[in-house]
Amino acid sequence: MSESNNITWHDSEVTKEERQNRNGHKSAVIWFTGLSGSGKSTVSVALEKALFNEGKQTYRLDGDNVRHGLNKNLGFSPEDRTENIRRIGEVAKLMVDAGSITVTAFISPYKQDRDNVRAILKDDEFIEVYTKCSVEECENRDPKGLYKKARSGEIPEFTGISAPYEAPDHPEIILDTEHESIDQSVDRVIQYLKQHQYI
Ligand code: ADX
Repeated sequence: MSESNNITWHDSEVTKEERQNRNGHKSAVIWFTGLSGSGKSTVSVALEKALFNEGKQTYRLDGDNVRHGLNKNLGFSPEDRTENIRRIGEVAKLMVDAGSITVTAFISPYKQDRDNVRAILKDDEFIEVYTKCSVEECENRDPKGLYKKARSGEIPEFTGISAPYEAPDHPEIILDTEHESIDQSVDRVIQYLKQHQYI
């Protein structure tokens, strides 16, 4: 339910299509989802760099970063995660409107939350990328030492340990980050963008 009344949409005189034409490529959200430690941030950083080096307009939104600012008032309860993803979805939509290939890296553990973001974008503007990696492997990597803290109970509601992760049924791309290298994963996303004429 909206709490704002008496508000009117005001169109720009520059359209998304005009921005895309000037950029020479389409804009879309490349939405990474997966467990903590599954490679979302790492692959998305490398992907953003690769796209930028090819002269594309691109920008990355990352869970740990966004939670420092825009979403610093949100925790990890199911409700807060839902609100986290809702806000990111709206920001990503604005960035797509601005002509950017927007790369997002959030656990986004709930299918419904991801589908809600898909629903506010056009059909081909949401590319869901599942960084598939077992909990065992993520826990072995434990780059931030968070799994250890989750196991000891120091961090409650930790995804994969004490909070759920709902894997996507039909993501546009599955990256087997347990076995693929970062470069291979980045390459697969770039190939997808080329094959589907985004870039
Ligand atoms: S999401 O579930 O709401 O999509 P988001 O991607 O923004 O999560 O943030 C996840 C990051 O927050 C993790 O990479 C990790 O560094 C940190 N974090 C802290 N507490 C938790 C927790 N309880 N569950 C998952 N990640 C956590």
